[in-house]
Order: sequence, then structure tokens, then C-alpha cells
Amino acid sequence: MSVRFEVNGKPVEVEVEPRLTLADCLRHELRLTGTHLGCEHGICGACTVIVDGAAVRSCLMLAVQADGAKVVTVEGLSRDDALTPLQASFRKHHALQCGFCTPGMITTAHALLSEEPDADANRVREVLSGNLCRCTGYVSIVEAVLDARVAYRKREA
Ligand code: FES
Ligand code: FES
Repeated sequence: MSVRFEVNGKPVEVEVEPRLTLADCLRHELRLTGTHLGCEHGICGACTVIVDGAAVRSCLMLAVQADGAKVVTVEGLSRDDALTPLQASFRKHHALQCGFCTPGMITTAHALLSEEPDADANRVREVLSGNLCRCTGYVSIVEAVLDARVAYRKREA
């Protein structure tokens, strides 16, 4: 089947099997390997991308379901070689170790702060509770997200 959608601001058209997941389409057809696959059944959050503004598990969505949508992957969050404020905050707070969960953490947190730049620690923990990290213990991740809020407030102003 032919599917057309927008990825990171660019229109794409791909021929896919109806059963192909969006995650596999992004990684294997479009070579956007920043989207990681962990559990492949909706538990770990590593594959999270943003579809029409909402954080979505791309292992649970078929590529054909993305037809006509606007998809943003972790690669699409920064417009140049510089880190985004959220990425810089992750680095500042040492909010990653192996980095496997990080793209999903970043996309999930970006979707949250884009909608709720005043999210408090409890809200950040609640939203990130669907993203598993086997390295950090989460404290530094929550601190990084909270510290990045100011950048999202400025975007709204
Ligand atoms: S790979 Fe999609 S939720 Fe784990
Ligand atoms: S940094 Fe290793 S899984 Fe999160």
C-alpha cells in the first residue's frame, strides 16, 4: 500500500505492507533510527514519536494509520546541529546513561511541555511513567524535564 505522511516537516511517500508498524517504517524505510524499539508491544515507551501533536507508541501503530498525519521523531525536534533546550537539560542533569530510552523520554516530555509548560513534578512523573529506563532511576530525568520548562514557556510568550 502507498502511504503519504509528513515526517519532521518533509512529505514522504512509502510503499508498505499493511502490517508494517510505524516504528519499522521509520527505522527501515526512512532510516530514522533515532526511534528505538525495546519491547515492541507498548510497554517500554522507547519507540515514542509525536503524531499530530500527541505522543504515540510507534510499535503499536501501523504505518498505514499515519496516512495524512504529521509525524515528528526525535531527529525532528532540533532544527540544526545544536541541542534543543530539552536535550541540553538532559545532558546538564545527566539524565541518561546507555541512552536507549532517551529518544522516547525526549519525545514524550516534548509533547507534554508543548501542551503543559507548567507541568509539576507529579505530572511529569505521571506522564513519563509509561517510559521505562533501566539505568538512571528516573530522578535526573524528572529534574531535566522540570528544568526545561522555562524554554517552553518562552515559546508560548
Ligand atoms: S518498543 Fe514500543 S513501547 Fe516498547
Ligand atoms: S539511560 Fe539506559 S535505559 Fe534509560
